[in-house]
Amino acid sequence: MSRLLVRPGDPLSGEVVISGAKNSVLKLMAATVLAEGRYVLRNVPDISDVTIMGRLLEAMGMSVRRREDAALEIVRGPDVVAEAPYELVEQMRASTAVLGPLLAGVGRARVALPGGDDFGSRPVDMHLASLEALGASFALSHGMIEGHAEKLIGAEVVLEYPSVGATENLLMAGATARGTTTVRNAAREPEISDLAAFLNRMGARVLGAGSPTIVIEGVDELRAVEHTVIPDRVEVVTFLAAVAVAGGEVTLRGARADHVDLLIEKMGRMGLRISPEADGLWAMSSGRPRPIDVATLPYPGIATDYLPMLVAVMCLADGTSYATENVFAGRFRYVGELARMGADIRVEGHHLVIDGVERLSGAPVRAVDIRAGAAMAIAALAADGETTIHDAGPIDRGYESFVEKLSGLGADITRQD
Ligand code: UD1
Repeated sequence: MSRLLVRPGDPLSGEVVISGAKNSVLKLMAATVLAEGRYVLRNVPDISDVTIMGRLLEAMGMSVRRREDAALEIVRGPDVVAEAPYELVEQMRASTAVLGPLLAGVGRARVALPGGDDFGSRPVDMHLASLEALGASFALSHGMIEGHAEKLIGAEVVLEYPSVGATENLLMAGATARGTTTVRNAAREPEISDLAAFLNRMGARVLGAGSPTIVIEGVDELRAVEHTVIPDRVEVVTFLAAVAVAGGEVTLRGARADHVDLLIEKMGRMGLRISPEADGLWAMSSGRPRPIDVATLPYPGIATDYLPMLVAVMCLADGTSYATENVFAGRFRYVGELARMGADIRVEGHHLVIDGVERLSGAPVRAVDIRAGAAMAIAALAADGETTIHDAGPIDRGYESFVEKLSGLGADITRQD
């Protein structure tokens, strides 16, 4: 598996183009199971999670082709193999997004039960309970979730937590259910709104996406369409954090300020100057970041996916920062890696107390997950000497051209395969 070498360098400068959102495109790909025909998804990031989801669709009998122009062509024929095998689900948990579309489009689904991952245990109980409310039935056998649904029937579902994945499965299952499905306490992430826009384009009637109550009026038929994926807000935050650590002046082309407004306020308090432009965001930073308090929450709160990068900035702040992880309680494995670089972080339950240091110290570390890997690279921009990020593969799961984009801004980062 590849390694990244990072050395501290000059402040960053220039422009970086933000790619399409990983967490959106994976669900749009899953949604193509719903209706026969030829789909074109545009602004699709060239990342390995998209490759894995493509393999899953191919294993299900569909065809997937990446074009030169960052578009993905997907053809869904009349027959679909209703199975997501363990080899693929184990590589990428988001594979469970095919559960709702398979039940709606084929009437049955065999999907491997995902195990735990670097975030800790990640149950799918809410996915199953909400699909059961629409009339699906499930059995667990030999590590596979086996689901059946003669015909899904619209219902009112109250989620006990605004789960992104459960909301998405409900949207896709409800699109062709008989009658109306109402999702209360729905997740409000921009990726949910993108999925709703895609489904509506296919002929669905989804109202209220982006708010806590989503109403889906079931339709008889959906059709294949073309759609452009929203920009990746986590990639935006990654580059903002890089500017906060390395200093400099950068334009993030294609970034949507309205998807990261609370984050812009938080990073502003850390001393980063950010302003929206016609087609992106401009950011500038000089001097040491200021400490902040941050707690992760479902959207519009600060996303759990942002926290590792924000913690990398806090490690260098001029004072004590506090970070609380409310979404995935076990998501602190990267802290030990930052500590290897001289960060002063205390873990107290799901809280971090971070005493900023003036300089970190380059060290061999590991990318324990996608965002943790990005956090290591950011921290390394202000670490004396060389940092080697071992097992850097997870970074490629979620970032297109990570090394090229950062080095394009002047960072001293190279890949060693
Ligand atoms: C998605 C994102 C992930 C992001 C997360 C929260 C994708 C591919 N992944 O993950 O990057 O960090 O949203 O913004 O889009 N839970 C249950 N039972 C369930 C489902 C979830 O207990 O059936 C819990 C989880 O363990 C977690 C919380 O709910 O503690 C939030 O999970 P959820 O919003 O579902 O995240 P994902 O959709 O898995």
